[in-house]
Amino acid sequence: MEWGMANRMAQLIQSDGHTLFLPVDHGYFQGPTRRLEEPRKTIEPLLPYADAIFITRGVLRSSVDPDNTKPVILRVSGGTSMVGKDLANEGITTSMEEAIRLNASAVGISIFVGSEYEKESLLNLSKLVDEGEKYGIPVMAVTAVGRELEKRDARYLALSSRIAAELGARVVKTYWCEDFDRVVTGCPVPVIMAGGPQVDTELEVFEFVYDGMQKGAIGVNLGRNIWQNDFPVAMIKAIRAVVHQNASPKEAQELFSSEKGGS
Ligand code: 5RP
Repeated sequence: MEWGMANRMAQLIQSDGHTLFLPVDHGYFQGPTRRLEEPRKTIEPLLPYADAIFITRGVLRSSVDPDNTKPVILRVSGGTSMVGKDLANEGITTSMEEAIRLNASAVGISIFVGSEYEKESLLNLSKLVDEGEKYGIPVMAVTAVGRELEKRDARYLALSSRIAAELGARVVKTYWCEDFDRVVTGCPVPVIMAGGPQVDTELEVFEFVYDGMQKGAIGVNLGRNIWQNDFPVAMIKAIRAVVHQNASPKEAQELFSSEKGGS
């Protein structure tokens, strides 16, 4: 790996081999998502506990101070919305020059395997990888499912993740699922877990993060289950303990409860 690429990967993945990405990119197709209506207010208290932030250029410029931040993974795909025809019909929204100008440590793009736009999204990924490799910028592929949340099973996610790695993604972001080891085993690059819509209890989040880490994920890219929680700082601290200190779900729950009490 060239120095620039290796250096950027090291900014993203911590010395223990694990990482906690904080995604706040949801507005690029969801608009002012609940509890991300004013991005700066959501981001600022959480940033000290994140290893990197996943964000669009617009929110980065408007809502994050350049002199006090964390490594940036720039969301560079989009062009669709919740009310449009098909969420899978994304294009590349941001050039590699812009990513460099914004000092991004990586760029992120969604792929939609099995959708009508499978080929376009996979070719977008390939083009982005070609560009990223030219400048030493890693590409994170996001195995998106659009509105079809039921697609989140090991067979589908293993297929999507492997294809993303084959096309050159340096990191793959996918969903946790039952038999998650099948996804990780079949994917020759590091795998990060996204959360999806907020689940009912904090313990459920700690349990799936813990399970995924035991099965080989290197970390999380967890958004709504952190910042839609009533106690987002307590939540990110507890998840951080699972990711970086191998805390059990029970220990994470205890930490969450004590942090929540203190906040
Ligand atoms: C949105 C994304 C998000 O980064 C990803 O889904 C993670 O966020 P969450 O944990 O809220 O699902 O790619 O398009």
